Amino acid sequence: MALIEIENLSVNFSSPDGQVQAVRDVSLALEEGQSLGIVGESGSGKSVSLMALLRLLPEQSATINANKLMLDGVNMLACPRQELAKVRGKVASLVFQDPMASFDPLFKIGDQLTETVLTHFDVSSSEALIRVEKMLDRVEMPDSKRVINSYPHQLSGGMLQRAMIAMALVCEPKVLIADEPTTALDVTVQAQILQLIGDLQQETGMGLIMITHDLGVVAETVDNIVVMYGGKVMEQTSVFDLFDTPRHPYSKALLESIPGQLPGKRKLKEIPGQSPNPLSPPAGCPFHFRCENADQSCIDQMPPLTRWDQTNATACLKVAS
Ligand SMILES: Nc1ncnc2c1ncn2[C@@H]1O[C@H](COP(=O)(O)OP(=O)(O)O)[C@@H](O)[C@H]1O
Ligand SMILES: [Mg+2]
Repeated sequence: MALIEIENLSVNFSSPDGQVQAVRDVSLALEEGQSLGIVGESGSGKSVSLMALLRLLPEQSATINANKLMLDGVNMLACPRQELAKVRGKVASLVFQDPMASFDPLFKIGDQLTETVLTHFDVSSSEALIRVEKMLDRVEMPDSKRVINSYPHQLSGGMLQRAMIAMALVCEPKVLIADEPTTALDVTVQAQILQLIGDLQQETGMGLIMITHDLGVVAETVDNIVVMYGGKVMEQTSVFDLFDTPRHPYSKALLESIPGQLPGKRKLKEIPGQSPNPLSPPAGCPFHFRCENADQSCIDQMPPLTRWDQTNATACLKVAS
């Protein structure tokens, strides 16, 4: 059974300037044990798509429309508000860019982790602490005894991110949703954390969604990729195919922007032009402003997402079928 099924999801926010069309007609799915990367530059609708699935968006301003919004068989569109936390806690755990925001600065790390276990499992405090210690070992936390007795501000960024991954995994979720989990870390620590997430996913068989603006981050951590731009899905593919034969012009541009991807080239290649304004997105392809191949047809109509096979689909009028 699919763990996550999102079909034709659109999300608007009401703002003083009008309706922000953050996500437009997005479909994606995740099977049990699969790993999926969602990539695209900042503002493309990656986080909002997953926050909509988990119903974590502000209800006063966000309008969610979808044909399907299923999490582990639960219809998240119809799920009563008091049930939501239970469903989320049982199925999905989140890891964010800024672990400092996820921990309460006034409580020790060990107490916060133990509290999480006690909320989700019917165990004693001492059993909860044993689970926490085991989990800190599994995330290869250095000096875990000290960490348990530390306040968040006493840990380095990398250690805090490990603590946050431990907090996410201690609930034994079916899927881990990591939203830019390493963006705030330096490159060496970034690589260690990605390796850790990849290893834990293999070990536990949980599903993984890795949201990032950086293709380099997903290259070694996930199997499949959804490329988003301007609130829409541009391409669905496997990591191998994306790096081997990217089809969509935006995917190609993203690949070229990875540092070190081209020999001798250290500077990021900038994609010329601006992203579309989400207050009045274009009727046609959102990438047409910046695409070398675009012509009038790309301005007039949004290309349908054309499926090539089970894993590959591309939304581009200029990619030959
Ligand atoms: N709470 C909100 N209110 C209004 N607009 C929002 C809100 N959250 C996100 N947006 C807008 O939605 C669009 C998509 O945002 P987001 O999904 O966060 O992008 P990203 O791909 O970087 O994760 C952006 O234009 C952003 O400004
Ligand atoms: Mg985001």
